[in-house]
Amino acid sequence: MTILDETAANGTATRTGRWTPVCSYTDLLPERGAAVLVGARQVAVFRTFDGALYALGNFDPFSGAYVLSRGIVGTRGGAPTVASPMHKQVFSLVTGVCVDDPGVAVPTYPIRVTDGTVEVSVV
Ligand code: FES
Repeated sequence: MTILDETAANGTATRTGRWTPVCSYTDLLPERGAAVLVGARQVAVFRTFDGALYALGNFDPFSGAYVLSRGIVGTRGGAPTVASPMHKQVFSLVTGVCVDDPGVAVPTYPIRVTDGTVEVSVV
């Protein structure tokens, strides 16, 4: 895992609605995920070819490994997805729901860019 940034160790990062800077926008290569640590949580952040950003839990519930940031970005029905590098299950980048098994989902997090810096809120 590549940890691009670590939240300040003062514990305030988990406060409701707080935005945590994780990396600069240009650090994110299109269609390549990156794993970042927000508080104690591993988050997989993605930038798609159209420039949009998505943040999902990095934990793959099927394999039990923190690997979604290393998954293959694609689309299903026009919506962006990531396929786990372990067992290839596909998750929507928008909703976190597993495409072929809607009973399974990973958490999604608000993500935005402020002055060129990507920020994630784990709320
Ligand atoms: S994509 Fe196969 S179980 Fe979700």
